[in-house]
Amino acid sequence: MRKKLIAGNWKMNLTIPQSVNLSEQIKNGIKDIKLNNIEVLVCPTYVSLYPVNEVIKDSGIKSGGQNMYFENEGAYTGEISAEMLKSAGCEFVILGHSERRKIFNESDELINKKVIKAVDSGLTSILCVGETLEERESGKQNEIVKTQIEKGLSGITVDKLKNIVIAYEPVWAIGTGKNATPDEANDMHKFIRNIIADLYDKKSSDEIKILYGGSLNDKNCKDLLSQSDIDGGLIGGASLKSESFLKIIETSNNL
Ligand code: PGA
Repeated sequence: MRKKLIAGNWKMNLTIPQSVNLSEQIKNGIKDIKLNNIEVLVCPTYVSLYPVNEVIKDSGIKSGGQNMYFENEGAYTGEISAEMLKSAGCEFVILGHSERRKIFNESDELINKKVIKAVDSGLTSILCVGETLEERESGKQNEIVKTQIEKGLSGITVDKLKNIVIAYEPVWAIGTGKNATPDEANDMHKFIRNIIADLYDKKSSDEIKILYGGSLNDKNCKDLLSQSDIDGGLIGGASLKSESFLKIIETSNNL
């Protein structure tokens, strides 16, 4: 059975004290919920990673970076390496988020180099994929997502797939308050699972976690997260308040 993963993507929000405060609230809130089949992850900004990890160590909550560069070290001003994320306490890294693709012009080729480096370094890589509104309206969503997955996972061998999580995040649903319907999301998740079966094998496609992201909140999480092929969520806005994030965790834990 696939363990659900509830991941908070804090994006460029919260100062260090605010991040420490939020992580303390999540840690305290989680004590009252006996986590059965879910994992909890928070992805603060780089500067908050270490202090947040000091708070959440021994709590069972994990942390991840929101991005990284594929080189080990050197003259790459503004970038961060896999080893640096690990030294701050991270076990995960989000790669290929649509905001990175759109605002920072990240290509599938660049994202693939990062995925390879992350996995080789022992980080679990959350590879984000998803179509824009225009692409969905022209019926191209499957084609777009397939290409993003094929290119993003190029060179990733079957034994490394256990360190990959896929996050389906339709761009039109991110930060808009307009989520995909449970059926729309589940259909895409099934489609993604079939791509993994074609690229690798049935066992891998049964085991890989596929998260949904895009306006997931404490109100709609039950319907979305109870779908057969949705293995958790990548949550932006609703992960910035402990009340809503804890509610999502609790709901998911009870499914
Ligand atoms: P949202 O963001 O929950 O605010 O829509 C999700 C994401 O971008 O990961």
